[in-house]
Amino acid sequence: MSQSAYRTHYATQVTEAEIGQEVTVAGWIDRRRDHGGVAFVDLRDRTGLVQVVIYDEELARPLRSEYVVQITGEVRERPEGNDNEHLSTGHIEIVSQQITILAKSDALPFQVSTALENESENKLPGEDVRLKYRYLDLRRPSMQSNIRLRAKMNAAARAALDNMDFCEIETPTLIRSTPEGARDFLVPARLVPGSWYALPQSPQLLKQLLMVGGFERYYQIARCYRDEDFRADRQPEFTQLDIEMSFASQEDVIAMAEQVLAAVWKAAGFEITLPINRISWQDAMDKYGSDKPDLRFGNEIVEMTEYFKDTPFRVFQAPYVGAVVFKGGADQPRRQFDGWQDWARQRGAKGLAYVQFSGNGELKGPVAKNLSDAEREGLQQAVHAEDGDAVFFAAGPRESSQSLLGAVRVEIARRQGLLKADEFALTWVVDFPLFKSTDDPDDDDVAVGHSQWTSMHHPFTMPSADWIDTFDKDPAHAMSDSYDIVCNGEEIGGGSVRIHRTDIQDRVLQVLGISDEEAQDKFGFLLEAFKYGAPPHAGIAFGWDRAAQILSGANSIRDVIAFPKSGGGQDPMTGAPAPIPPEQRAETGVDYEPEED
Ligand code: AMO
Ligand code: AMP
Repeated sequence: MSQSAYRTHYATQVTEAEIGQEVTVAGWIDRRRDHGGVAFVDLRDRTGLVQVVIYDEELARPLRSEYVVQITGEVRERPEGNDNEHLSTGHIEIVSQQITILAKSDALPFQVSTALENESENKLPGEDVRLKYRYLDLRRPSMQSNIRLRAKMNAAARAALDNMDFCEIETPTLIRSTPEGARDFLVPARLVPGSWYALPQSPQLLKQLLMVGGFERYYQIARCYRDEDFRADRQPEFTQLDIEMSFASQEDVIAMAEQVLAAVWKAAGFEITLPINRISWQDAMDKYGSDKPDLRFGNEIVEMTEYFKDTPFRVFQAPYVGAVVFKGGADQPRRQFDGWQDWARQRGAKGLAYVQFSGNGELKGPVAKNLSDAEREGLQQAVHAEDGDAVFFAAGPRESSQSLLGAVRVEIARRQGLLKADEFALTWVVDFPLFKSTDDPDDDDVAVGHSQWTSMHHPFTMPSADWIDTFDKDPAHAMSDSYDIVCNGEEIGGGSVRIHRTDIQDRVLQVLGISDEEAQDKFGFLLEAFKYGAPPHAGIAFGWDRAAQILSGANSIRDVIAFPKSGGGQDPMTGAPAPIPPEQRAETGVDYEPEED
């Protein structure tokens, strides 16, 4: 495997067994050190480093960092005291006899040396520079290992799915719009001026058509495109491991998905215990203030609405009051509590009331004096706090208050060092509502229709069995057969049982405010397909970049993508997106205006 025209061994294949042998290695000069008449060079290839000793000054003189070289020499044991315990090749070195420079390198815009890697994270330049020279950034061992981990995940997922008789099928990326709640990226069609392709937000409709097409078990590592506003865990183009099954229930999909997850986690060197824990969407919201709860730690939200129902404290006279305990937080200095207030206000909250239980039954904090005697008396027990704890309160509308407390709970855990990157708290979130209101100000999803309601998951999601007949009479309460898989507070996948009956699909579209005409125009092909014997089907898609980020312990989704986009959807390396010349505008027909008749 290692043998090629350029080398006999990879760097890390040069071991004690090769002592006395002549070897040829090839790679980059990671670092060069001079010690009066002797030069040491660390040669780096995709496997790691090996040290080369150069006694001949003529040979050593031209060598610079990141030159690409081929070096032949004899392997010897390192002299007494010169071992490097940090390197797998730390007991040997190659005494160079011949060095061929295969390519020179200009001085680099930033250091990529392995030797600096551990200390260099903070010395790295800004991300824009890293992305402009991504090919250099990719040379760094941490980027190498992230990208290689993805390849391992792909292989493990394919093996697990092939093993369960799934068929890998590619679907097109120049298609009609697939409504997944985001804006489409559009591509002008040169041959049909004024007409546009949409890039798929996911293969959702196509995989459903593959079920009508009789494949029964499909998967694809699929590129998806969503023109969304920038967020840290999002990319405008990203990858899903997309899966669909016919004659399958929610339980069938979950059982299959758990096999895939276990295989992928194992490929990354981690065991997960099956079955994976489940929580209902309502419980997740009530206890953790989030539909993607971080369960690496407990510290549930305690609802205090009933407790404060007759409160004299104006702030707590609200439709909802909840509390989160900060274990051992009572003796934070005042300015730290002030910092929490600012933190909450930055998140759009009105404030973040708090009390401190500093011991001997003493209740401190500016809010304490506003409470009634009875409220003060029973408070510690009611919120399950102990002496030495602080407690934060949010009061107001249920959803936004819970969401604030959910963020408080995570922020406390972060400050307490409880968010460990190599711990994986996986959970299914199940029992989702079918619809959500379109006037939720926190939501930046694009509504799929024109009514007060939009889909919680997507418009092709089946109402749960007990809502099939009534979901359109009570959209506010209707439930669906959908599920998300969540890990460490990130949604890493989601899916649902699909509607396979035209009558139900029609009624869902009606609730969403999509007219027959619009439905025909947008996804008539799907509705038509359902007329010809559509099997019951269900599926899921994993957010592959997010899964890779979690498994690699990377700080950002961009660190597990070879060539990601920066904040504004830009690629600093190629300069995309870029203006196009007038000829190209004309040719692609982007300025085409239909003639009025
Ligand atoms: P959904 O929209 O929930 O479902 O997407 C599935 C998963 O994809 C990931 N994801 C993203 N990752 C990075 N950048 C983005 N912009 C982005 N958007 C989503 C998330 C998410 O859980 N067709 C359905 C799946 C199905 O029903 O089978 C779908 O696309 O991790
Ligand atoms: P005020 O009486 O407005 O000064 O508020 C007293 C305390 O309650 C301060 O600590 C505020 O941060 C906090 N507070 C104000 N509004 C809310 C709210 N909606 N939820 C929780 N705490 C609040």
